[in-house]
Amino acid sequence: MNMRTEIGRMLKTGIETAFPEASDLPDNLSSMLETPPDPNMGDLAFPCFRLSKNLRKSPQAIAQLLAQTIHEPETADVSCIGGYLNFSFNKSNFARSTLESVLASPGSWGSSSEGKGKTVCMDYSSINIAKRFHIGHLSTTVLGNSLMRIYRFLGWNAVGINHLGDWGTQFGKMIAAYKHWGNEKMVEEGGVNALTSLYVRFHEEAEKCPSLEEEGRAWFKKIEDGDPEALKIFNWFKEMTLRDAQKVYELLDVHFDSYAGESFYNDKMGRVIDELKQKQLLRESDGAMIVDLEPWKMPPCLILKSDGATLYATRDIAAALYRKDTYHFDQCLYIVAYQQQLHFRQWFKVLELMGYPWAKDQLHHVAFGMVSYEGKTLSTREGHVVYLEEVLQRAQEKALNIIREKSPNLDNPEKVARQVGIGAVVYSALQNGRIKDIDFWWERALNFDGDTGPYVQYTYARCSSLLRKAAPVNAAAPDYNALANDEAQAVLRILSRFPDTVREAADKYEPSMITRAVTDLAKAYNKFYYEHRILDQDTASSLARTELTKAVADVIRTGLWLIGIEAPERM
Ligand code: ARG
Repeated sequence: MNMRTEIGRMLKTGIETAFPEASDLPDNLSSMLETPPDPNMGDLAFPCFRLSKNLRKSPQAIAQLLAQTIHEPETADVSCIGGYLNFSFNKSNFARSTLESVLASPGSWGSSSEGKGKTVCMDYSSINIAKRFHIGHLSTTVLGNSLMRIYRFLGWNAVGINHLGDWGTQFGKMIAAYKHWGNEKMVEEGGVNALTSLYVRFHEEAEKCPSLEEEGRAWFKKIEDGDPEALKIFNWFKEMTLRDAQKVYELLDVHFDSYAGESFYNDKMGRVIDELKQKQLLRESDGAMIVDLEPWKMPPCLILKSDGATLYATRDIAAALYRKDTYHFDQCLYIVAYQQQLHFRQWFKVLELMGYPWAKDQLHHVAFGMVSYEGKTLSTREGHVVYLEEVLQRAQEKALNIIREKSPNLDNPEKVARQVGIGAVVYSALQNGRIKDIDFWWERALNFDGDTGPYVQYTYARCSSLLRKAAPVNAAAPDYNALANDEAQAVLRILSRFPDTVREAADKYEPSMITRAVTDLAKAYNKFYYEHRILDQDTASSLARTELTKAVADVIRTGLWLIGIEAPERM
């Protein structure tokens, strides 16, 4: 039995007894309960002003009368402060009820079926072809991966989409460069690096020989027109890029249901243009076609260039329509840097003007802060950039060195080093609210002390080790009074709140709330661990403390999984 439901029931009986004449009571009393800022004020509080109108009494008077009426000390003590009715749980009952709930089905505390029958599309990672995966794409990748897991955990059907940046004149230039200075062997062996150097070379040479630009444009036109040679080369470049990205995705355990990127919509642009024309939204401006957004105080949305080429926004509009038709989503999330905010506001508005009301309440730009590197803006051209593969590599090496030194007898040190190294990097990316700018520092990403992924993982391994040593459970019933102390109660509070944390993280698209919760849980448990004996107690107390340990391990594992981090049993 969940405490919130239990208190909701007490409250309902209390109100019915104290105010027999009351009618039309809200039926969601338990969801109206709030968590007081200070646990000394109680574990849950009911704001009585919510009933004031209904009962025609002041909140204070309602709170007082209810405090006198409700009497179930075996569940909770009741008191009132101002218009609030405060419930302080009976400590051992709270422990029993929380642990029973958490342990009822391992791995699923906090999960629900509230999203059943609903679909969410997540546009995340969305890398650009012929560019190496750098830390600028870390946030979108790990945020999206975590949101996918969180939404699935809440019962949603989640569709992961990698909206590849595989369209634009730069690909024509790249083919031109390849034709001049490249060959098959160099690209096969060098992968994305070879493509990048071809692109750099193109720009250097084009300064001396401007006709190259024209060649580049001509190749791009060929791609657009579906010329077999151009398409063949281009698709091969794409394959090379994805092959490199796949290594990173595998390390991060990130997956997609679709790689339909910008070029996928080539043959789906007609509908967008036709509809815009038909609805008289298109206007000419300097030869280009735009949608005027002046009334919404935004610059116009560019739909067609003067040469008839479509743009990033046009493709996003086509993609949204396609996704709606294909997946019938209830929500479509775009996990994309804050810098693109205007772009999303603009084309969301265009879709709305086209007569698609869902553009207003089902499309969401989940923005995140800017990533810089040791205080400077990322720039591939100036070489001021860090590649993700290298970050993950170095993190794993560092973890392996520590493991070799501290746990030389560990089986499978490479596997644990992978879990811990990747855990450190992912944690550092999901530690703060997503809108906060991230300045990448090597020391920080590779930090294993303090509030870090490895610290939480270590706590999980500590629990696992304790549970391996715990005596086989005998018939004795656990004595939950052994968990009435402040340290255990602090742990229990985090455990019991975990389902709310998950829901809130989903509502706010904020995985960092789960990062925070598992960190707080690890800290609270470690405090309990240092102050209380867990195993060599009289059996009934030991049993209760072992149950607490089991629940903590389970919730840490779930929480870490939800943010995309594995939990090693030993480390
Ligand atoms: N490829 C783009 C970039 O790296 C992100 C694409 C985001 N998704 C979208 N549907 N616009 O900046």
